[in-house]
Amino acid sequence: MSGRQVSPHPNPPPQAREGVDNPPSLAGEGGARAGRRGRVGATVGDALTDAAAALAAAGFDEPRRRARRLLAAALRVSGADIFAHPERALSAAEEARVAAMLSRVIAREPLSRIIGRREFWGLEFVLSADTLDPRPDSESVVEAVLARLPDRTPAYRFLDLGTGTGCLLLALLSEFPRAIGVGIDLAAGAALTARRNATLLGLGERAHFAVGDWAGAIAGGFDAVVANPPYIATRAIPELPPEVRNYDPKRALDGGPDGLLAYRAIAADLFRLLRPGGLFAAEIGLGQAEAVASILAQGGLAIEGFAADLGGVIRCVVARR
Ligand SMILES: C[S@@+](CC[C@H](N)C(=O)[O-])C[C@H]1O[C@@H](n2cnc3c(N)ncnc32)[C@H](O)[C@@H]1O
Repeated sequence: MSGRQVSPHPNPPPQAREGVDNPPSLAGEGGARAGRRGRVGATVGDALTDAAAALAAAGFDEPRRRARRLLAAALRVSGADIFAHPERALSAAEEARVAAMLSRVIAREPLSRIIGRREFWGLEFVLSADTLDPRPDSESVVEAVLARLPDRTPAYRFLDLGTGTGCLLLALLSEFPRAIGVGIDLAAGAALTARRNATLLGLGERAHFAVGDWAGAIAGGFDAVVANPPYIATRAIPELPPEVRNYDPKRALDGGPDGLLAYRAIAADLFRLLRPGGLFAAEIGLGQAEAVASILAQGGLAIEGFAADLGGVIRCVVARR
């Protein structure tokens, strides 16, 4: 998770992400023609202009890009189609659908939650109430593993702790055609959603999901373990943007009093889980690098490095057995 400074995880301030970004203030008078009165223009071009104005007035950044994404989702077409056919007339039902979606976004419901899907690593993931909405920042965990395993052909064994939608594991399996993997989550609903995503992505035969408390019931021998554990300090959760605190499951966010509870629990098992030389890569919260490195070192791992996101925030720690 992140926030996350987040990817969801925010050690406040939360990071800007699609659908979660810059928490806007409440819809202003002018821009909310669409969002408040439930009306948008009668063509694609008009609707785009109206929706962008409503989003801008409500304080969202990149309103036109958001409006395009919203329209594409509401009309079930691509973003390119929105650009290509501004003159296309909207039916009354389409107009109503766009307006309804816009109102929900202005009320701080992430578009990904409204449409029930999120793209991660170029793959589409179904969301459910039990899953975190995957954040682009978490791709740094996938990148960290890829950078250290340049040969894509071995039949590696991967373990993903706190799998959520399965996004980390399934992204890895999409890159390593002979690898297999196990994803664990405490939430049965998340394990089921991850299973569904594996099937939809054609990775179902190489991905296995189970309900569990971290790796307590898992035997060792993994080439890499990945995790994006809950890492927000409990007291910071009420300060998260509404898009995060109202829609991501608390179990996916809450890292205990200091945000580090999950790292301690996971680190206790890593030496046993990894084959000699095996990798551990995990997302971390803002300012947690040193503390997490120390926890991993106490677990017998050697710290190999950190990876920063595009904003220069250290987002990922990598260690090796
Ligand atoms: C921040 S989310 C990450 C989800 C997914 N890996 C991602 O990157 O989008 C953390 C996940 O850990 C799971 N989790 C929390 N406590 C757990 C535990 N004790 N054992 C296993 N999974 C747990 C949550 O249900 C949640 O799905």
